[in-house]
Amino acid sequence: MEKLTEPQLMELQEQYVLATYAPDMTLVRGAMSWVWDAAGRRYLDFCTGISVCNLGHCHPRVTEAIQRQAATLVHVSNLFFNETQPQLAAQIAKHSFGGRVFFCNSGAEANEGLIKFARRWGSETGRHEILCMEESFHGRTLATLAATGRGKYRVGFAPDTPGFAFAPFNDLAAVRDAVTESTAAILVEPVQGEGGIIPATPEFLTGLRDLCNERDLLLLFDEVQCGMGRTGRSFAHQHYGVEPDGMSMAKALGNGLPLGAFELQQKYADALPPGTHASTFGGTPLACAAGLAVFEAMDEENVLHNVEKMGAHFREKLCALKAKYSCIKEIRGRGLMIGVELTTPVKDLLSAARDKGLIALSAGENVLRMLPPLTVQAEEIDFAADVLDEAMSSL
Ligand SMILES: Cc1ncc(COP(=O)(O)O)c(C=O)c1O
Repeated sequence: MEKLTEPQLMELQEQYVLATYAPDMTLVRGAMSWVWDAAGRRYLDFCTGISVCNLGHCHPRVTEAIQRQAATLVHVSNLFFNETQPQLAAQIAKHSFGGRVFFCNSGAEANEGLIKFARRWGSETGRHEILCMEESFHGRTLATLAATGRGKYRVGFAPDTPGFAFAPFNDLAAVRDAVTESTAAILVEPVQGEGGIIPATPEFLTGLRDLCNERDLLLLFDEVQCGMGRTGRSFAHQHYGVEPDGMSMAKALGNGLPLGAFELQQKYADALPPGTHASTFGGTPLACAAGLAVFEAMDEENVLHNVEKMGAHFREKLCALKAKYSCIKEIRGRGLMIGVELTTPVKDLLSAARDKGLIALSAGENVLRMLPPLTVQAEEIDFAADVLDEAMSSL
């Protein structure tokens, strides 16, 4: 690969890459919580590739596993067993509800799989509709867009894929009213991410489980953003003592390698028999080797404990800022999935923070979203809090 300057790279990007994104900085290197731009400036990364590099950038254990597997076997297709896929499925099952796993490449693809599962299961009783939540986000494919409660993402892509209905998040009575004779499943993020870092209330999630039991519906959790340790448990729903019938995951599963999955309870082991679903790149030896290293690191490096501890530390720091700045309306989230709702647009704060060496992101117009690496250290949180303090005082 040729070594090009940043302007040269930007010119190529402008000419040859579809402009669906609007990046304005090139990142060239990462090490745990830090990334470097093309000019050599260092930033504390509280975006983590949108909760993908949860163990930090180039975590040694994951890097070593990828390097080893890349030199052994990268891809063979699912026409064959491989050595890593069943082991990763067992790790996912061990860290969740002991189910059966299908591997794919992204969050949207994992949710597509859940949707297909629900339709096939529902077809036995003539039901097909999936009840989703307002302000939810489930991906950018046509079916997952139709399941997404944030209407702005659907503009210009009509007609919507049929078979989806909506009810307000955290409003059990409204969900109950929205169930019809066609409803097969309820799909929900235990903590809404793109919607503004909003945790489900315990009454809501347990109420949904009861409702699904009562009406013979599937309860499906989208843990693409809130799963994989982000909230301090392996999966966010574990805080609630409620189990889903099926769950999607992706993002941090491969710590940066494209890897997604959905898991079904064992009682649905035969719901998708051979030939009903497939993905060429799903569960390659390489991606699954990365996933195995992720679980190994989570267990052996006591990552979940760090999430609880650092999450509490960060919250304390943010509460101190809230006492100082009236533009902070609310601090919410769980573990290291943190949203700070402002009374003003978050855009200027993000750019002031970046100028001072902190990368974070938004969730909607007014919410500062922070997704630090789960391996973050107390000094790094202190640095982030100082940057936010300075950035807020400068606005
Ligand atoms: C909750 C949730 N579901 C699904 C997706 C889609 O994942 P992907 O972009 O990997 O398709 C996202 C992405 O942000 C997400 O946050």
